[in-house]
Amino acid sequence: MINFALPKGRLGDKAYGLLQKAGYSCAEYDESSRKLIFTDTSTGVSLFWVKPTDVSVYVEEGAADVGFIGKDILDEYRPDVYELLDMNMGKCRMCVAAKKGFRDDTSHPLKVATKFPNSATSYFQSKGREVQIIKLNGSIELAPVLGLSDVIFDIVETGTTLRENNLEVIDEAFQISMRLIANKASYKFKRQDIQLLTERLRAVIQ
Ligand code: PRP
Repeated sequence: MINFALPKGRLGDKAYGLLQKAGYSCAEYDESSRKLIFTDTSTGVSLFWVKPTDVSVYVEEGAADVGFIGKDILDEYRPDVYELLDMNMGKCRMCVAAKKGFRDDTSHPLKVATKFPNSATSYFQSKGREVQIIKLNGSIELAPVLGLSDVIFDIVETGTTLRENNLEVIDEAFQISMRLIANKASYKFKRQDIQLLTERLRAVIQ
């Protein structure tokens, strides 16, 4: 059996569609159900639906052998796992954005609102810019509008949220897409199964 952690939500459902195409469907899976584990002995998979940020924990700790996770979460939590495949989906960008016309005043630390404090800290360290990180849990775009922060460090997908709040991208930190990751011990003991899964998924996304 391969134990698979999938992120709950729209992207997870799409990722499950790819798993099905690759031959890893789960007959009893029901999207409308509140059940969190689905197992299919004929295809050899057990699916766990978890919060996207928790996929890294389940896979790193070995409760799941493999999982789908966004590069944003990988960069923030840096779990000790193998990154096997870029799924080429869920594409977006991690960006620094601010109110239109913003000018950085380097005489004081830059106030940065974000859901990704570790990634933001690394990014600004690499730029040599001193920052004060303001950790928020959502609606990040509100922070510069209300003067809570100078800039935000956040995900931009379509750019609609920025546009509708009169913000603009100042810099792009990195590109994001969904990745297939594996627990290191699982990769050793279930190597053939996990390699086969990786190859089948690669064939489906190409
Ligand atoms: C994410 C992200 C941005 C928005 C970007 O938020 O934090 O706010 O999507 O998408 P766009 O460029 O297509 O507008 P999410 O929808 O996850 O909600 P949140 O504000 O609660 O984090």
